[in-house]
Amino acid sequence: MNNFELIEKYNASDISIPKNMFGWMRSNHAGETGAVWIYLGAKCIFWNKKIKVISKEHYQTEKNHLIIMNHLLSNKSKSKLLIFWRILGFSLGFISALLGYRFFCVTIQSVESFVEQHYREQIEFLYKKSISFDLLKVLEMCCDEEVEHQNDAKMQKGLDKNSVFENMWSNLIGSGSNVAVNVSKLI
Ligand SMILES: [Fe+2]
Ligand SMILES: [Fe+2]
Repeated sequence: MNNFELIEKYNASDISIPKNMFGWMRSNHAGETGAVWIYLGAKCIFWNKKIKVISKEHYQTEKNHLIIMNHLLSNKSKSKLLIFWRILGFSLGFISALLGYRFFCVTIQSVESFVEQHYREQIEFLYKKSISFDLLKVLEMCCDEEVEHQNDAKMQKGLDKNSVFENMWSNLIGSGSNVAVNVSKLI
């Protein structure tokens, strides 16, 4: 599928972004950039077959999301810190994958549940304000795929409850992502 077909598939071809959505869209673009680089980082741990498989699959979806966000947002509206989001994403993917499959899955589950919540806030906002139903639909489609990633990681993680350390790590990812979103909304 080429980029044009992909944009059609997500029904993202003719959308103008409402003024009050620019901060959010900038954070979406930054977030999808980070996501792509998380899986790029994880793919470096090529000797772990399970990590390789899940990263390859999720990477493809994140790349699609990034193409969509790239299309929706002009260059001048994008975050000025893209290099930083790439480095951060890559490091997170690389280090958590280095610590093993389960730890990587815990990380992905936390990241993706944050992203789900992030998209849901925007969907709800657009719905309540009754603006840009087109954009709402696009975000919904991305959000559904983030939920798939989240469930995938949850299932792969296995049935064992999270350890105290894993819960702490999960919370850290949640608050770190929150900071990243707020920064990328601004700059
Ligand atoms: Fe994504
Ligand atoms: Fe995702």
